[in-house]
Amino acid sequence: MNEAILDLFPAGTTINSAGNLVVGGCDTVFLAGHYGTPLYILDENHIRRQCREYRREFTRAYQNVRVAYASKACLNKALASIINQEEMELDVVSGGELAIALSAGFPAAKIYFHGNNKSKSELEYAFQAGVGHFVADNLAELELIDRLAGKTGYLPEILLRVTPGVDAHTHHHITTGVAGSKFGLPLEDAARAIKQAAGLASLEIAGLHCHLGSQIHEVEPYVKALGILLEFSHTMKIEQGFELKVLSLGGGFGVNYTLEDKALPAGVYAGAIASALVAGCGELGLELPRLVIEPGRAIVASAGVTLYSVGMQKKIRGFGHYVAVDGGMADNIRPALYDAVYTAVAANKVNHRIENEVIIAGKYCESGDILIRNASLPVIEAGDILAIPVTGAYCMPMASNYNGALKPAVILVNKGKHRLIRRREEYRDLMYLDVEGGQ
Ligand code: LLP
Repeated sequence: MNEAILDLFPAGTTINSAGNLVVGGCDTVFLAGHYGTPLYILDENHIRRQCREYRREFTRAYQNVRVAYASKACLNKALASIINQEEMELDVVSGGELAIALSAGFPAAKIYFHGNNKSKSELEYAFQAGVGHFVADNLAELELIDRLAGKTGYLPEILLRVTPGVDAHTHHHITTGVAGSKFGLPLEDAARAIKQAAGLASLEIAGLHCHLGSQIHEVEPYVKALGILLEFSHTMKIEQGFELKVLSLGGGFGVNYTLEDKALPAGVYAGAIASALVAGCGELGLELPRLVIEPGRAIVASAGVTLYSVGMQKKIRGFGHYVAVDGGMADNIRPALYDAVYTAVAANKVNHRIENEVIIAGKYCESGDILIRNASLPVIEAGDILAIPVTGAYCMPMASNYNGALKPAVILVNKGKHRLIRRREEYRDLMYLDVEGGQ
């Protein structure tokens, strides 16, 4: 095995004397036997490390900053508690994510409620819970929030989501800051919304939000968007007396999925964003706003490892050598949906010589259910355990019951200890919501 591959795993990942992969101080082959496969592993220490790095680097660069974890990347009660302990804020995008966060005791005042089509009942729920910040997507939502504020006497902080028209050079399914996106308003419409919102009885727009896309490997899109938003705020200030108190640049900070990827450290984003913000506000005579960033992937992706057991294999002349595992697109849809590229190691044969280029196929009834198109592995036999790193973000929350798949268990490992934080689904869970004799 290429030793460098361990860099894709959580910090401190090693190989033990049995030649097994050790994550968070735990032998992954033992974990696979103990909890079964597929198995999602999250390394607690690594999550905390990422939280601290983002908070440290952004606070160092710009004092008035809040780091809100984008919970869509992965959310469960244990994770919400860790994020809270790390003094991060939280971005939720639905009543469901809000419910999970609240059930873990996450303070509502530190939650940002996003979404391009929040329903009235979701808004009411968030109001009732005392959610501190709402990122409004459009004028109709501003009006709805205003009515709720009038009725309840509670006024959360409101940001307006705008699309600055910046291309973040990422996969088109995860690009959101370009003109024509379904999210937020183009500047022209945002200007109109700000004007109309000024006439609303209760509500005040405290600032602007944009999110450019995900898995961004450059600072330029952030700096460009920031410049556009500051210019826009300046115009709005002159025309409508608008004060930019809060500026949220969303998430999108890229991570390394393979050794070829070149993710930027948090400090590079922080430095570039902070200096552009200070310079831009200086030039335009704007007060320095509170800055909000919302990393999701960068906090949890590299903390996650998925374990699979190998089943059948077949070599098809002229096509390749398939190694089928006991999971696939139901637990990681990303290769099928975004052509996402992953690597794998044989967790019980980490020191064995690489012998083959294989195709790692999932077990679901779709030809597109291929996890890795060219994995370099030693000689593989049924029962071997494959470990795929960088699966902590957008795998668990996008998991499905397709083909009656049972969603895997999730465990937290830390310094040699392991604990179940979400049990594996059982067959009865598949029927749980069916109503006996229902139509
Ligand atoms: N803030 C907003 C408003 C967002 O829409 C998102 C992600 C984030 C923050 C966090 O972005 P991150 O730091 O994780 O890149 N399912 C796709 C990713 C979709 C991201 C959607 N929005 C994937 O698996 O690549």
